[in-house]
Amino acid sequence: MTGRCVLAIETSCDETSVAVVRGSADGFGDLEVLANVVLSQVATHAPFGGVVPEVASRAHLDMLEAVVGEALAVAGLQTGDGAPVDAVAATCGPGLIGALLVGVSSAKALALAWDVPYVEVNHLEGHLFAVFLEQPDIALPMVVLLVSGGHTMLVSVSAPGRYRILGATVDDAAGEAFDKVARYLGLGYPGGPVIDRLSADGDRDAIRFPRGMIDEGLDFSFSGMKTAVINYVRRHPDAGNADLAAGFQEAVVDVLVTKALRAAARTGAQSVALGGGVAANSRLRERFAAAASDAGLTSHVPDRVLCTDNAAMIAAAAHWRLGQHGPTPLDGGAHPNLRLVDT
Ligand code: KG4
Ligand code: ZN
Repeated sequence: MTGRCVLAIETSCDETSVAVVRGSADGFGDLEVLANVVLSQVATHAPFGGVVPEVASRAHLDMLEAVVGEALAVAGLQTGDGAPVDAVAATCGPGLIGALLVGVSSAKALALAWDVPYVEVNHLEGHLFAVFLEQPDIALPMVVLLVSGGHTMLVSVSAPGRYRILGATVDDAAGEAFDKVARYLGLGYPGGPVIDRLSADGDRDAIRFPRGMIDEGLDFSFSGMKTAVINYVRRHPDAGNADLAAGFQEAVVDVLVTKALRAAARTGAQSVALGGGVAANSRLRERFAAAASDAGLTSHVPDRVLCTDNAAMIAAAAHWRLGQHGPTPLDGGAHPNLRLVDT
């Protein structure tokens, strides 16, 4: 098999994911996903109404070996003589410390056993690389709206590895707000996909929720929007969940799209893209693409599987990191509060 194959492990939160991605040995470009297996722990955590860190670590530990085996099998690679891949990567942060350690330790053990390089990857950089994986020749500079359960930020990308944080949330992340509103409405966990589905049956204009900080700069605030839903339900106990969901989703999407386009205008970006779990949201995808087109910008909205946590995006970033910076020493650790820094 020609080209360089990277096996990547993603265990930062509640998805056990292993991918095999092939690329050219000179670093980055022409990436081909041979396998991207994602095993969700949602059913395990659902009874608790959210992710329980200790339960997540144990579930990763129980399942990771099988998921590695499945990814290799899907990729058509054998673990007989010699190494099945040319490098092993893992998400080293940010995320839950126990969950991260399972992935990092396993990746290092595999790299040692197969005698191939180990590469650590910042999870947030992984989300940005989901765009490059599908659209390697996207026009730069671009602005990426990175919206997940733990993060909400606008990142200006002038080249792979060259980032500037333009804005971030001052309180809750967008996904966190979806999850909290869904929990309050008794819709279960995780809330984003449920609110997305339910909104299709609701009237998005029936209830108008405030758009937090929409006229101010590039930072976000979702905590007040969540509280607005709670206060509305207290005053209108008969309000229907579908209208509440649709109204809340519309308010969040309004803010996200407005700020992404503002960021693009301010930085002279040529394109805009979405990343992170909330980028799986149907209404956000639709409105983001339409607004970008109206503004004359190229937009890229990755496939849903590449928006929510997955190891293919980690492998993509690892290909680039290996080419630019070489392997990570085996004493590299896990960093729960790792940030994406301006470079
Ligand atoms: O990126 P991700 O899979 O994990 C983190 O790194 O946080 O994002 C998970 C978040 C959760 O808050 C979940 O509710 C949200 O993404 N999410 C959605 C949708 N699918 C997942 N939010 C809105 N609409 C969706 N369709
Ligand atoms: Zn994520």
